[in-house]
Amino acid sequence: MTADPEGLLAAMTVEEKIGQLNLLPAGEGMATGAGDATPLAERLDAGLVGAVFGVKSRESARAMQERALAGSRHGAPLYFAEDVIHGHRTVFPLPIALACSWDMALIEETAAHAAREAAEDGVHQVYAPMVDVSRDPRWGRVAESPGEDPTLAALYAAACVRGLQGADVAAEGRVAACLKHFIAYGAPQSGRDYDNASLGWAELFEVHAPPFRAGVEAGAASAMVAFNAVNRTPMHAHAPLVEGWLRGRLGFEGLVVSDYTGVRELQAHGLGDRAATVARALHAGVDMDMVGEDYLAALPALARDGIDCAESGVRFTAAEIVALIDRACLRVLRFKQRLGLLADPFRSLRGEGPPRAPSATGRALARRAAGASAVLLKNDGVLPLRSGPLTAALVGPLADDRANLIGTWSVAGDAAQVRTLREGLEGREGLTLICAPGANLVEEPWLVDRLNCHGPTVRPDPRPEAEMIAEAVAAARLADIVIAAVGEAKEHAGEASSRLSPDLPAPQRRLIAALAKTGRPLVVAVCAGRPLALAEVAEAADALVMAWHGGVEAGPGLADILTGAAEPSARLAAALPAHPGQTPLSHAAEPTGRPNPGRFRKFLTGWLDLPDGPGQTDGLYPFGFGLAYTTFRHGAPQADRREGLGEEDRLAVRIDVTNAGDRPGVETVQLYLSDPVARSTRPARALKAFRRLSLAPGETGRATFEIDVEMLRYPLADGPEDERRVWDPGAFTLWLGPNSRDAQALEIAWRA
Ligand code: NOJ
Repeated sequence: MTADPEGLLAAMTVEEKIGQLNLLPAGEGMATGAGDATPLAERLDAGLVGAVFGVKSRESARAMQERALAGSRHGAPLYFAEDVIHGHRTVFPLPIALACSWDMALIEETAAHAAREAAEDGVHQVYAPMVDVSRDPRWGRVAESPGEDPTLAALYAAACVRGLQGADVAAEGRVAACLKHFIAYGAPQSGRDYDNASLGWAELFEVHAPPFRAGVEAGAASAMVAFNAVNRTPMHAHAPLVEGWLRGRLGFEGLVVSDYTGVRELQAHGLGDRAATVARALHAGVDMDMVGEDYLAALPALARDGIDCAESGVRFTAAEIVALIDRACLRVLRFKQRLGLLADPFRSLRGEGPPRAPSATGRALARRAAGASAVLLKNDGVLPLRSGPLTAALVGPLADDRANLIGTWSVAGDAAQVRTLREGLEGREGLTLICAPGANLVEEPWLVDRLNCHGPTVRPDPRPEAEMIAEAVAAARLADIVIAAVGEAKEHAGEASSRLSPDLPAPQRRLIAALAKTGRPLVVAVCAGRPLALAEVAEAADALVMAWHGGVEAGPGLADILTGAAEPSARLAAALPAHPGQTPLSHAAEPTGRPNPGRFRKFLTGWLDLPDGPGQTDGLYPFGFGLAYTTFRHGAPQADRREGLGEEDRLAVRIDVTNAGDRPGVETVQLYLSDPVARSTRPARALKAFRRLSLAPGETGRATFEIDVEMLRYPLADGPEDERRVWDPGAFTLWLGPNSRDAQALEIAWRA
């Protein structure tokens, strides 16, 4: 075998090249797309597979590699991919949760740990990070997303790429990252998964593009296109965005793969028959076809005859198709070269597979991550739990749950490895627990069936609701304090799990109301996969923690926060709505001509049926919000200068923050920008940077930021190929504070 991609390409027949573009499932998981998968072995023997995903062990990957090499005249190796969304065997908190840590070093560490474990299982590429910005809590895949903000998402994307790939993706314990889903998959117009996105091009570049840009700049070796159409062109056929923007504009040189049967689905999108859609996808820059085998089926004839189809408007000569096949095949081979597989096809495939259980190091990291992701939203002095003898009623359907707290998309995870909140609290000195589930997660039998699509995680208690609530209330009455762990099932969130009404399911709301009536101090921990509307719960609770689905150490990590063994430091990466219908939602929404004054007024922008209260525009709990067990005093923001700034200037801005309480804590000082007068409407506040200050009691720290014209720029675009970055001289407001709502203004003026 020749070990260079160009030499290999030159030696291959068209059929062999087409085989390299074929990306098949190992068949060891659930089929989720259009049509059934083809028997893999047959294809391997014929040399018609480029890569395989979803292999469950190193041994089985090795067997497939041997078979592929035997089936290929040139000994072209496979590469192996897997969905490693929030950890591999050591399952970390969901991505939306990890993003709430605002701790990029921690996120990088979790990604690096996941890479090591995946590589030990013979994986070369992971389908992560998912970097789709999302402002719609109905969308189930917000669980896998870094949240609502492009700046935070961009930092998250870069941290994940660094963690997964390191300096050299071919080094031991490293894997190729795959940025997904390109692009605007997080903006489905109805909140329904797979639905199309219809948005201004400037919004696309300002809100959805930054994490892809950051991921590419960090060196991501691959990307996956999204299922949805953007402004009426499905992303699997979007040449201007894939070949044009991603490759042309950003200079991305890696591999682009389709999503699961995404090429096939172009037919359902209405772009034509198999031949026409395959030609369009290949031309758009989708190098590999996942699962559907449409490239394999249609490209040989296209390469021989070309296509001229008036109905779909698709026209390519045979020579053009052959050139496109060459282009895609070369990218596949270069990717394999970058992975070190042309030199050594058995890289990470030799020897015994690793043990399945998370290591002690992995567990310690997962526990730290679970604590760092739990956002303290309310605390009327009941947390941390007081030390000394304390009896707590531990109630709620997620208090002793493994199957759901692992979180969606944890394909190599094992729910049996999850440690629950009960286990996390048990044995803490002086603490006695009285446990009662109190409610089922949901009450509708048909919904239980849907939530159990990947195996039973929701097992309803057959007792009548009144009996369950009575038991929990009795436990509360015997206790000094009540801790209720409520929320969503694992499959409430994730792929194809959009919800009409992102709130706490009704039986659990009734449980909280009953507990509140006991008058016992009530701590509510919400374990969910998406931002939920929690107004009623927040009202009833004395303390409220958004703990998400926390992975294998969900329980101990949350227990550390509740007991004060760890200090709460997380900040919301996505606002929590004041009502389930308040969607989409973002602190950065542009002002209207009839701005909301913070309460309902007829003929101003607002909701008739949303009661007055906080969060008319930015949710009940805004982006960036989170409390600590200490309090922080922010001084007045200071700038070197406020005026006379020109194009080449850099402005230093600072703010002093004092830990005014008696516990240590981390304050996340956030810098937002608004541009009150510009040629187009601008976000109310856009996050530009943040600093995490770790402060001892009484200590004062300083957050400094440097502002330059680059920070003032924003994209304009009339089309997908037309991104221009501009800025409008004049007045700007910098906002510095602990979250997107409670920030102090600093006016500055910048001239051209
Ligand atoms: C479909 C999902 O959209 C994608 O994120 C995932 O990587 C593939 N399936 C492969 O499992």
